[in-house]
Amino acid sequence: MADVRFDGRVAIVTGAGGGLGRSHALLLASRGAKVVVNDLGGAFDGSGSGSTTMAQKVCDEIKAAGGEAVPDYNSVSTPDGAAGIVKTALDTFGKLDIVINNAGILRDKSIVKMEEEDWRKVIQVHLDGSYFVTKAAWEHLRANNFGRVIFTTSAAGLYGNFGQTNYSAAKMGIVGLVNTLKLEGAKYNIYSNAIAPIAGTRLTATVMPQPMLDMLKPEAVSPMVAYLCSEESTVNGKIISAGAGHFAVAQMVEAKGATIKGDVSIEGVREKLDQIMDLEGAVTLGNAGEAGSKVFAALSA
Ligand code: NAI
Repeated sequence: MADVRFDGRVAIVTGAGGGLGRSHALLLASRGAKVVVNDLGGAFDGSGSGSTTMAQKVCDEIKAAGGEAVPDYNSVSTPDGAAGIVKTALDTFGKLDIVINNAGILRDKSIVKMEEEDWRKVIQVHLDGSYFVTKAAWEHLRANNFGRVIFTTSAAGLYGNFGQTNYSAAKMGIVGLVNTLKLEGAKYNIYSNAIAPIAGTRLTATVMPQPMLDMLKPEAVSPMVAYLCSEESTVNGKIISAGAGHFAVAQMVEAKGATIKGDVSIEGVREKLDQIMDLEGAVTLGNAGEAGSKVFAALSA
């Protein structure tokens, strides 16, 4: 089979000045995509006034390898910044096909110590940023009748992580975004998916020992992201865990459950708790309507 290529495709990668975003951008560009390398250039916690050197350096790397790229220094976390990123793509390359929402910061604190500012900033970059950039891009993807949108969630959102209430909520919010965009984009050939990566980057450098960081190369995550961005991929609405070359789909499931007919009492719930919690034979539901149908089917069974 022929190699997967992105010739003629234009991609935005947010937060591409380092870590995973840089790796995604380099891979797409090496396979023919024209890439907008967006990065605000701040510190890992979102502080600092921003520096243009991070995004510029990645563009220099892409160009040195014979690829095409343009730097962009807008923040994803405002509607104007997001519109600016999309404008860079259109002004430079004339179209837009692929959006990789990757920009991120961390402000870890237990809920007791969490300040409103820590909560807001993390939501603003991850959740608002993913929405703003996708919103600004969407009409252009629709006009193409082609779009591949990647979101970056996290095991911290899917499963929880001590000290990351802000980050976990933002990352799970992103899953909600994907769940609905998969429905809204399908008929326009716009597919939205989320990856839950594990990689040695400046975000994980403070919490993982060096040998582990060395094993978790961002380059072992990017091939999945790139495949999901390809024309041949029909994957839509999925969450994929990705780290060190290990890839696995993750999904929300609902148990068969139990139905209490007639008077629904607290004691009735207690009686059926084991059955309610039993995941044997659990199902995946494709949209909220199917959840409603499941309730009515159980009532009439
Ligand atoms: P990183 O810190 O190397 O990359 C994030 C980039 O986003 C930075 O270059 C930063 O300057 C940029 N950025 C931050 N705020 C921005 C804004 N408002 N606008 C534009 N750019 C902005 O860290 P890493 O690990 O590569 O993170 C990439 C994504 O992967 C993040 O969304 C992170 O939450 C997610 N992730 C990473 C994991 C890991 O194991 N490294 C685990 C789970 C999720």
